[in-house]
Amino acid sequence: MTTGEQERIYFIGGTGNTGAPAVKELLKKKIPVTLYARSPEKAQNLFSSLVAKDDVSSLLTIVQGDLEDLTPFEESIQGHTRLFLVAVDFQNYAKKVIGIAEKAYAAGIKQVVHISSMAVSYPWRVSFIGSMHRVAEESVLAIPDRGSYVALRPSRFMSNNLLFDRPSILHGNVIVDTAKHDVHQEWISNNDIGTVAANIFQDPVEKHGDAVYELVGDLVTPETRAKYLSQSLGKPIKYVKQTVEERYEVLTKQVGLPHGPAFDLMQSREDGSSNVSFGISLLLGRQPETLEQWIEKNKNGFL
Ligand SMILES: NC(=O)c1ccc[n+]([C@@H]2O[C@H](COP(=O)([O-])OP(=O)(O)OC[C@H]3O[C@@H](n4cnc5c(N)ncnc54)[C@H](OP(=O)(O)O)[C@@H]3O)[C@@H](O)[C@H]2O)c1
Repeated sequence: MTTGEQERIYFIGGTGNTGAPAVKELLKKKIPVTLYARSPEKAQNLFSSLVAKDDVSSLLTIVQGDLEDLTPFEESIQGHTRLFLVAVDFQNYAKKVIGIAEKAYAAGIKQVVHISSMAVSYPWRVSFIGSMHRVAEESVLAIPDRGSYVALRPSRFMSNNLLFDRPSILHGNVIVDTAKHDVHQEWISNNDIGTVAANIFQDPVEKHGDAVYELVGDLVTPETRAKYLSQSLGKPIKYVKQTVEERYEVLTKQVGLPHGPAFDLMQSREDGSSNVSFGISLLLGRQPETLEQWIEKNKNGFL
């Protein structure tokens, strides 16, 4: 980044679990952001109250667009310095990511921060989700004359508690999974992922280069997770271990996942090798949020 150049951060996925906390942090610091959003109203409602009326036009720009047609993105990316990239597509994930990254670098973007997945670090091709993110990472790295590419590889998001467990809590005061009761599972706060991205955007581009950061903020067994939920929601919630057949039925029929990601999500690393990520407090500038804290903060979402 040349000294004095005005930072302007472009967000794809800025209204999501990880993008929204990053956008909020940057707006608080008065760093201008542009959001690529399917629904400008949703984006406006999420963020406009964070910006003083006089600052709205200079700090918050919303471009209506869809990943299925990148024309609005191509027409608006010029003049930005960095790109936050979340892509959601189980069919053509790598194609989407590389298409966006190529256009971004060609328009002068100096740094892409991509929300990838910790499953990229698993052995080659054992994980559907890991493979799609790995192909995407490799494709971006292979773009000639590109700028910096930072891959954040988070473990399971704490926001999954709302996505996957809220229905079974509401219907039967249980959480379900295929993991053993006492296996330590890797969790990361979606707010922390956003904070790491926002912090990287405030550092010089050269500091992070083509870094990869795995993001695990807490290790919690299913039994302990049920205990945290019970404490916060004020009612007994039990962990129920399902068979793979039962879990597969829920993930495909109720959650609506395709076969590959559903098969992946049933698997848990149970070899005791999990750790909170080394150096995560350095990236955050504080200790990571624990699952217990996240549940307490978000308990109203379970009602
Ligand atoms: N959940 C996990 O445990 C986990 C773990 C590791 C990695 N990951 C990875 O994290 C990523 C998901 O991140 P997230 O949870 O922050 O995402 P998210 O909350 O699902 O948000 C998706 C974002 O993308 C936007 N979006 C979706 N479809 C779009 C389209 N067709 N055109 C334009 N924008 C679109 C959404 O905007 P709208 O406001 O328009 O909906 C939203 O801003 C995935 O790549 C996943 O593989 C997830």
